[in-house]
This record gives sequence, structure tokens and C-alpha cells, in this order.
Amino acid sequence: MARSKRITALANLTKGYQTVVDIGSDHGLVLKEAIDLGYVRFGIASDINEKPLKQAEKNLKGYPVKLIQSDGFLLLNEPFDLAIIAGMGVHTISAILNNAPKEEVVYLLQANDKIEVLRQYLVDNEFKIIDEHVVYDKFYYVILKVIRGNMSLDEKDIWLGPILKKKDESKPYYQFRLKQIKAILLKVKGEMKKRWEKIADFHEFL
Ligand SMILES: C[S@@+](CC[C@H](N)C(=O)[O-])C[C@H]1O[C@@H](n2cnc3c(N)ncnc32)[C@H](O)[C@@H]1O
Repeated sequence: MARSKRITALANLTKGYQTVVDIGSDHGLVLKEAIDLGYVRFGIASDINEKPLKQAEKNLKGYPVKLIQSDGFLLLNEPFDLAIIAGMGVHTISAILNNAPKEEVVYLLQANDKIEVLRQYLVDNEFKIIDEHVVYDKFYYVILKVIRGNMSLDEKDIWLGPILKKKDESKPYYQFRLKQIKAILLKVKGEMKKRWEKIADFHEFL
């Protein structure tokens, strides 16, 4: 089976961590690849649903991974130093982060939609972005590396990403976003149009 670039990108970012928990692990593919690459010594695959967890159990047979059925962090009592929350909508990720541990943990977050809403959530809930990556895998996916802490982001940072805007890898992604925003501009009017025009005008998009 062809490897997903998104899964590989997430697996590559686990390098250097001891115990990695994958919240919403589905079939357990991120941990499988991270362990195959030799990056992770011990994993916790966790999902709210039994069915994906059963599939993860099959895929991770013989791997040093504990499987836990849990809504987000609620039933996780083991210590870990990296938590992955990926492949979900921004509202599900935010709801999971509302119960994230207070200890020093690094998070890899990859929302399937509205990354700007996730960045605003992080500002409002005292999380700090320490790195950002974009990966193209039939669609553009942004991965945020986050810790607890304070940051202030202006509107440009919310849309472009405070770190991504400084990276060359963001250019094709920004061009894609600009096309999307131009399509929105054709449909909206009044105050909404003014707002989207302002976003389309960010020079990094050009
Ligand atoms: C689309 S899959 C993404 C799988 C994988 N993380 C990835 O990036 O490919 C989303 C998974 O998250 C699980 N999920 C949704 N809400 C959850 C929650 N509150 N806590 C734990 N798992 C959740 C679903 O059951 C599903 O298996």
C-alpha cells in the first residue's frame, strides 16, 4: 500500500520523543510508521471508538504500543512526552485540547479544516506554536507543533502562521489558499467581502 505523505510527515516529527500518544489513532498508522522508523520506543494508541481501535490492534500486533479506548485525554493515566492529535476537524481537536494535561508535553496538531480557527483557539487557551509544517498529500495539510505557553498573533499570523510565513515550503500552499480566497470573494458581499479582501491582500500570498 502506498504510504501517505501526511502520515509519514507526522511520523517523522516523533523523532526524539520517548513515549508518544496518538489520540484518535484510528488504524494506528502513525505509530506504526514512527516505530518502524525507529523514532519511538513506546506508543499509546487511543481512540474514542472500539472499531478503529480493534483495527489498530491488528496493525500494531507485536509493536510496543498500549491501546486505550478513551475520549481524548480523559482515560489516559500514563505519562507521555508527545501527543499527536491529527486528521480531525478543528472543533474536535479543540474539545480534546480542553482536557489536555497541564504537564510539559509537546503536541502535534493537524486539523483537516480551518487552521486559522485552531491558531486562534491556541492563543485564547494559552498554547504556544513552536513550529509549523505544510505537507501536500492530494491536499495541503498544516501540522502545528505546540506547547503550553503564551503567544500573541496578529490577524496575518492567524491566517498565514507565525512560523510558516517565514518558510519557503509554504509558497505553493499560500498560492492554493489565495485561489480559494478569491473564489470566496466572488460569492461574498458587504463587510464579509471587505474582510476577505484584507486577507487576500497579505503580500505573503502573492
Ligand atoms: C479521521 S480519523 C484520523 C486518524 C488519524 N489520527 C490520522 O491522522 O489519520 C479520526 C479518528 O479520531 C477518532 N476520534 C474522534 N473524536 C475523538 C475523541 N474525542 N477522542 C479520541 N478519538 C477520537 C475517531 O474515532 C477516528 O478514528
